[in-house]
Amino acid sequence: MVEYTVSDGVCVLRLNSPPLNAITFALLDELRAALGRANLDPEVQGVVITGSADHFSAGADVGMFRDIARPEEAVRTSRLFQEAFQAVEDSAKPVAAAVAGRVMGSALELAMACHFRVCPAAARFSMPEVTLGINPGAGGTQRLPRLVGTEEALKMLMTGEGIDARKARALGLVDAIAEGGDLLDSARTVLRSAQGPRKTSLRTDKVNDAVANEAAFHRARQRLAGMRPEIVAPRTILEAVQAGLQESCQAGFRREQDGFAECMNTLAARNKIYLFFATRQASRIPGPAERAAADITMAAVIGMGSMGTGIAQTLVMNGIRVAVLDQDRSALQRGSDRIRTSVLKRVEQGRLAPQAAEGMLGLLSTTADWQEIAGAPLVIEAVFEDAAVKRDVLRHIEAACGEPAIIASNTSTISLDVLAEAMRHPERLIGMHFFNPAHSMPLVEVIRRDATPHNVVATAMGLARKIRKTPVLVRNRVGFLVNRLFIPYLKEAFWLLEEGAEPPAIDSAMIEFGFPMGPLVLIDMAGLDVLVLTDRVLTSAFPSHGPLSQVAVRLAEGGRLGQKSGSGVYRYEKGDRTPCPSAETARVVAEVRQAEGRAPRPVGNDEITRRLVLRMVREAFSVMEEGIAQRESDLDVAMVLGTGFPDFRGGVLKYARDCGLGRVAADLDKLAAECGPRFSPCRLLREMEGVR
Ligand code: NAI
Repeated sequence: MVEYTVSDGVCVLRLNSPPLNAITFALLDELRAALGRANLDPEVQGVVITGSADHFSAGADVGMFRDIARPEEAVRTSRLFQEAFQAVEDSAKPVAAAVAGRVMGSALELAMACHFRVCPAAARFSMPEVTLGINPGAGGTQRLPRLVGTEEALKMLMTGEGIDARKARALGLVDAIAEGGDLLDSARTVLRSAQGPRKTSLRTDKVNDAVANEAAFHRARQRLAGMRPEIVAPRTILEAVQAGLQESCQAGFRREQDGFAECMNTLAARNKIYLFFATRQASRIPGPAERAAADITMAAVIGMGSMGTGIAQTLVMNGIRVAVLDQDRSALQRGSDRIRTSVLKRVEQGRLAPQAAEGMLGLLSTTADWQEIAGAPLVIEAVFEDAAVKRDVLRHIEAACGEPAIIASNTSTISLDVLAEAMRHPERLIGMHFFNPAHSMPLVEVIRRDATPHNVVATAMGLARKIRKTPVLVRNRVGFLVNRLFIPYLKEAFWLLEEGAEPPAIDSAMIEFGFPMGPLVLIDMAGLDVLVLTDRVLTSAFPSHGPLSQVAVRLAEGGRLGQKSGSGVYRYEKGDRTPCPSAETARVVAEVRQAEGRAPRPVGNDEITRRLVLRMVREAFSVMEEGIAQRESDLDVAMVLGTGFPDFRGGVLKYARDCGLGRVAADLDKLAAECGPRFSPCRLLREMEGVR
C-alpha cells in the first residue's frame, strides 16, 4: 500500500492502494512504519509523500464511518488518525506532500501534516466532511486555520466547498504549483531549500490576530444561526477551531475528537452517510450486465425545448459530441444561445478554462434534417409530451439511424409500452427521464421495460454516469418513481388548502421539515397546467389516488398557471419571483368550499407535515411492492436528488423506517379513515410491519 524508494537523498513514499488510495487504519500503519524507516535511513535527507501523477487520495474510507457504532469508537478512530498524522508532522526529516487531483478530507489532512505541499495546476482542495454531517477528525480543524487563516478555514470547513490550486497557493495552503513540470521534481526543489521540518501545528503567523479571529468566529456563528439544528457538524467544527486557537492545539485536537463522536451519534450524519453509499450503489446494476455497456462518445437529441437544451448542454460539457434536431429553427437558435451563455458564464466565474469552453461548444451542432443524425449510436428524444408526436418522432429516428441506435425517451408520463408499439425495434427503446433544469439536476431515472435487454440498460446507465448524473434504474410503470410519489404529495397540498390551511403555512411546514421550498411555491414554478396533465395520467392508472382538488383545477382553468402567467397559488409582481398572497386564490378556495359544502377548519403544522410526508411514504411502499425500484435505497436516492427531500432524513423510506413501520402503518390507517383510500397502507407495508 505504501511503496518506499530512495534516490538522490530523497525517500518517496507512494500511496498505492487502488482505485482511490482511500486511507484506512492499515494504510496509516504502513505509512508510519515507512516514515520511521526513512527517518532511520542515513541515505535519506527528506521525504515526499505522494500518490499517482494525477491522483493523491480520496481521503478516509467512508466505510469506516459507517461501521462506527458507539461514541468511544468514534473518538478512537479520530485519535488514531490524529496520532498517525502527528507522527508525520513530528518527522525529524522534512516531509513534503506532492498531491494531485481532488485532495479531499483526510487526504488534505495528511498533506497539511506534512511540512510542505506541492501540486499541479489542476489540483483542487476541500474538506467535505460537513456534507456528510460530520466534522473532520484527523486534525483538519487545527491545521487548516494555521495554514490559510481563520476566516478562510472556517469557510472551507463549514461549507465543504473546494478551492483550486491557484487559490490554495495564494492562501498558503500549498507552497508551489508544478506548472507543467514534474510534481516530484517540484517537491524535491522545495525540500532542497527547506531549513528542516516546518510543523504546521506550531505555526502562528496566520492566526495571531485575535481581533480578526474573533470577527471570523462571529461570522461563523451568524452562519450557524441559519442552519438546521439536526446537523451539528458546523457547530462542532467552529468549537474545535475556537478551542485550538483560544486554548491550545492539543485542546483543539481533543475537541475535534469529541465533536466527531457527537456528529457520528446523530441520525442526520448516519442518514447522510447512508445516502453516500446508496448513491453509489444506485448507479450500479448487478453482475455482468454492467460490462455490456457501450461507451457513448456521440449522441443526438431530438427537440431543443427546455429539456432538450439542458440535456444537450450536459452531454457536450462531458465531452460527448451532440447533434440536436428540432423542427423549429428558432428553437434551435434559442437553445444554442442558451448553452453558449451558460458555458461562457462558467468561464467568467473562473470555473472553466476558455479553451475548454470552446472545445465543449465545438461539440454541439444543430439541424432540422433527419439525415444528419444518422450514425448516432444513442438518440434522446425530448419533444412535446404527446404520444402521437413522440411515436412519429420515434419512427423518424429509426428510419434515420438504423437498427443499432439506442433510443431514449425523456417522457415524464407516457408509458414506454405505448411508445414502443410504434417501433420496428422496440427493444432499442429505454427511458432516460431527466429533471428540470436538466443541466444541473443530478438525477436521471433510467426506465426499463420488461423486454429491454441488458446492454441497452447498461449503456443508458453508463451514459448517465459519464455525464456525471446519478442514474436510478426503474421499471416502466406510469409516473415511474419520482412523479409517482411527488405528484400525490403536491395534490395533498391542495387538499390541505381546500380544507383550511393557508398557502404560506403549507409551504413553511415543509421547509421546516427540510425541503428547500414548499409544495405550492414549487408548483407555481413548474406550472399548474403541468400538474393537471400529469395527474390526469397518474390518476387514470391509479384511481385510488383520488381526484385533484378543484382549487388546482380551477386555478389552472382560469389561466393562473404560476410564475409563467404572473399568478398561480401566489401572485407575482412583474420581474419578481417573490410569492405574494393572492386574493384570487382566496376567492377560488372560498368558492370551491362553498360548492362542496365544506367549512374551513384549522389545520395545524403537524397535520400538514404528517399528511404530506405520509402520502409519499404510502406511495413509496406501493412502488416497492410493484418492483419499480430495485432497492429501497434507490428510492431514497431518487427522492432526495429528484425532489429535494431532506438528505439528513435519509429519504422517504429511510425516514419511515426511522419513525418505525408500526407507527407509520397505524398513522396511515388513521389517515385512510379520515381522508380516504389514498392513504391505505399496501400489502408490503403490512407484511413488513408484521415481521418487524
Ligand atoms: P418544450 O415544449 O420546451 O420543447 C419541445 C421541443 O420539441 C420544441 O422545441 C419543439 O419544437 C420540438 N418538437 C416538437 N415536435 C417535434 C418533432 N416532431 N420533431 C422535432 N422537434 C419537435 O418541452 P420540454 O419541457 O422540453 O419537454 C420535452 C419532454 O421532456 C416532454 O416529454 C416532457 O414531458 C419531458 N420532461 C419535461 C420536464 C419539464 O419540467 N419541462 C421534466 C422532465 C421531462
